[in-house]
Amino acid sequence: MIIAIDGPAGAGKSTVCRILAQELRFVYLDTGAMYRAVAWALNAEKPGTTPEEITEGRLRSLPLAFDMKAESLEILYRGKSLTSELRNPEMSEAASRVSRLGPVREFLLSWQRKLGEQGDIVAEGRDTATVVFPGAELKVFLTADLPTRIRRRHAEYSDKGMDVSYDEIATAIRERDRADANRELAPMKPAPGALILDTSALDIPGVVRKLIEAAKGLKPSGTTI
Ligand code: C5P
Repeated sequence: MIIAIDGPAGAGKSTVCRILAQELRFVYLDTGAMYRAVAWALNAEKPGTTPEEITEGRLRSLPLAFDMKAESLEILYRGKSLTSELRNPEMSEAASRVSRLGPVREFLLSWQRKLGEQGDIVAEGRDTATVVFPGAELKVFLTADLPTRIRRRHAEYSDKGMDVSYDEIATAIRERDRADANRELAPMKPAPGALILDTSALDIPGVVRKLIEAAKGLKPSGTTI
């Protein structure tokens, strides 16, 4: 079974999807981390790589590997696991920039579909329900109002000891959502028949509970929960 969950920055997708996958004993596939990893690896191999240089051949030659472990995706660069280096404001922006490019989307789409063959997964991103897994049994668009999303991202960075101001985060989130929703290829939007879940007034266990209910078929698709 595939559960595909999309939505804007700061809606809480990563936290919720990780817990949801654990509770259902599914594997968590964070597709955003794959875009971040491509941006990171391109920069590590050659800082200042231009969009024109990002060809299919170049992407295939990156020393990057994706592997589904028991619980979640592992991303390896030259055999070393990439984790915390991917989750910072610079990589968020860099991922959004490369995600507009056709060769990058094609490259990751084929990886994502291959990884998705491995059984029960919770996939999360911007186009997992619209493009990557349109046949997913459960499709969800997870969102929250802008002030809530800014507050959550601010708390996440503060917890990690990162010094990023509320205003910087507000500008970055607004800009990234605008770019992700308006790009030509695989723009962020709810998939046809997706459940729309606004998490502004919910805590994490509350969101997870609603998703488990939906996964158990208690909510008909196409409704707002
Ligand atoms: O979800 P996350 O914030 O890690 O995603 C980083 C960026 O990667 C997004 O802003 C978006 O531009 C891109 N992305 C995408 N398609 C996905 C997942 C992420 O274009 N399925």
